Amino acid sequence: MTTVSPATPALTDLVAAVRKVIDMRVDWAHTADLVADQLRAHLPGPDLLTPDQRRGHPDRPAGHVLHAEPDGTFSILGLVWRPGQSTRIHDHITWCVVGVLAGTEHEELFDESLNPVGVRDNHSGEVSGFAPPGDIHRIRNDRSETAISLHIYGTDITRVGTSVRRYYD
Ligand SMILES: [Fe+2]
Repeated sequence: MTTVSPATPALTDLVAAVRKVIDMRVDWAHTADLVADQLRAHLPGPDLLTPDQRRGHPDRPAGHVLHAEPDGTFSILGLVWRPGQSTRIHDHITWCVVGVLAGTEHEELFDESLNPVGVRDNHSGEVSGFAPPGDIHRIRNDRSETAISLHIYGTDITRVGTSVRRYYD
């Protein structure tokens, strides 16, 4: 997951838009909202990933780093979920914005005692953003087609290795 894919024109526009928001240096929650606005305005199609990347991995959700900002302020990943694939219950070390490019992601939200506090289905074309704390969740592809999503994190994933702060299961 540490090899950065070559940039595409769709990604170049998105990166420029996100960079402008980051340069405003507002707090995490506000940054997540503003980056979500930019991802809605510049949402690429699933062909942002190569056909090989879009196939996914048989054992786990497959992550592909599409951009890592040189100053470490953000990075962009493509995630590919085959039917039935799921994350563990986790939260994050930074803000995160997710846009679904294909399929549907089923998201379960939890409080700090791991009581379920909400579920939602994030459909293709939908974008959401959040910032810790209160961001404990699990994402699962509970449909019969592959799901693809774009994740923007407020850190350089290639340097820190993961966006996860802690696993709860
Ligand atoms: Fe997450």
